[in-house]
Amino acid sequence: MGIQIAPSILSADFANLERDIVSVDNADWLHFDVMDGHFVPNLTVGLPVLERVVQVAPMPVDVHLMIDDPDHWAPRYAQAGASSVTFHYEAAQDPVAIARELRRLGTRASVALKPGTSADVVIDRLAEFDMVLVMTVEPGFGGQDFMPDMMPKLERLRAAASEVDHDLWLQTDGGISRETIGQAAAAGCDVFVAGSAVYGAEDRRAEIEALRDLARQ
Ligand code: DX5
Ligand code: ZN
Repeated sequence: MGIQIAPSILSADFANLERDIVSVDNADWLHFDVMDGHFVPNLTVGLPVLERVVQVAPMPVDVHLMIDDPDHWAPRYAQAGASSVTFHYEAAQDPVAIARELRRLGTRASVALKPGTSADVVIDRLAEFDMVLVMTVEPGFGGQDFMPDMMPKLERLRAAASEVDHDLWLQTDGGISRETIGQAAAAGCDVFVAGSAVYGAEDRRAEIEALRDLARQ
């Protein structure tokens, strides 16, 4: 698939969500951040909002669940129309069972690792997942600084996926901007979430193209 850009609605205007989704219609994905106030110290939106968002979004929706009990909730987000569902390894009882259920429902299955979680936890079972999200900030808030010390984790996952010939997508989320996207791309990332960088730009569509070009270099 190559380089893909996923603007995060966390930085959008929730009172003008449709307008702000359409304003990034040259993006590959819409990144939909779900927070429950338990797994992370912040609260956003959930299933009823997703059900409407998938109806108006011109691009597929990539759900990022920062919630407890993804074993119960992840399949519901697939059923509500997400094209990709990412759940956190740290919150899951049985990550492989969740991924299998997501795939059975026809959704891309993805697992996220917080900065303190080693690649070791998934490295031997990468084939169970369509994507691994390497968090480059502590999950919970937009606008935080990118953590360059996560690059070895990306490199390791990219090497391990190549070794078993698995077309794994690697996503980074947190602090992605024109300044940082090149580092993440060089480490093997191909799907880039960008919240404040895209929504804070004067010309959002141009910012998406600029990020895409920088990641290709
Ligand atoms: C943070 C969220 C991100 C957030 C990224 O926990 O998962 O998707 O919107 O925001 P930026 O790109 O501003 O760091
Ligand atoms: Zn996110």
